[in-house]
Amino acid sequence: MKTLSRNKALELFEAATKEKSGRWIKHSQNVAKAAEQIASNHPTLDKETAYVYGLLHDYGRSKEQTRIKHVLSGYEALTRLGYDDVARICVTHSFPYKNDIGDVFHCEKFKQNEYDFIWKYIQSIEYTDYDKLIQLCDHLAFESRYCLLEERMVDIAMRYGVSPLTIENWRCLFEIKAHFEQILDNSVYNIINIIPPPPS
Ligand SMILES: [Fe+2]
Repeated sequence: MKTLSRNKALELFEAATKEKSGRWIKHSQNVAKAAEQIASNHPTLDKETAYVYGLLHDYGRSKEQTRIKHVLSGYEALTRLGYDDVARICVTHSFPYKNDIGDVFHCEKFKQNEYDFIWKYIQSIEYTDYDKLIQLCDHLAFESRYCLLEERMVDIAMRYGVSPLTIENWRCLFEIKAHFEQILDNSVYNIINIIPPPPS
């Protein structure tokens, strides 16, 4: 497995953005920055690695725009290049809840081979704090700005609809946020400088 430096990751990202434009580009840059900021305050995570993972988590969007296919094409492309750890993030970022993935992309059904691959893959690993960090940061970044988890959840729900698994994924994301906040002894919103809305 090769290690991907920030410069090499930026090179790959730049080339990918020329293949397909879209909101994924600025979103990925914001996810990378949020991941770097949170990792900088974390006792064991490396901020360069966090940045690289954030930048390339949606690498598959340069090839395929659908939710299922961007996961698989990002994984395949980065595995082919020998960057297995970043390829892993292309898969894990879409599945905070790993106990059931059956209708997680309810508006685009899995093909059996896609389902089998993803299911076996995520069941064969324990999520690390890097997996969780990118799952979290994927929900803290629009293309234009950082956002509250809830804003991103509603944004995705309005674009794709919801299923019972949507709620399980939300529950996991709130747990992941709490997990990091306990380690950081700070709110992730403070760390990435979002001002929370005033109490109503
Ligand atoms: Fe994303």
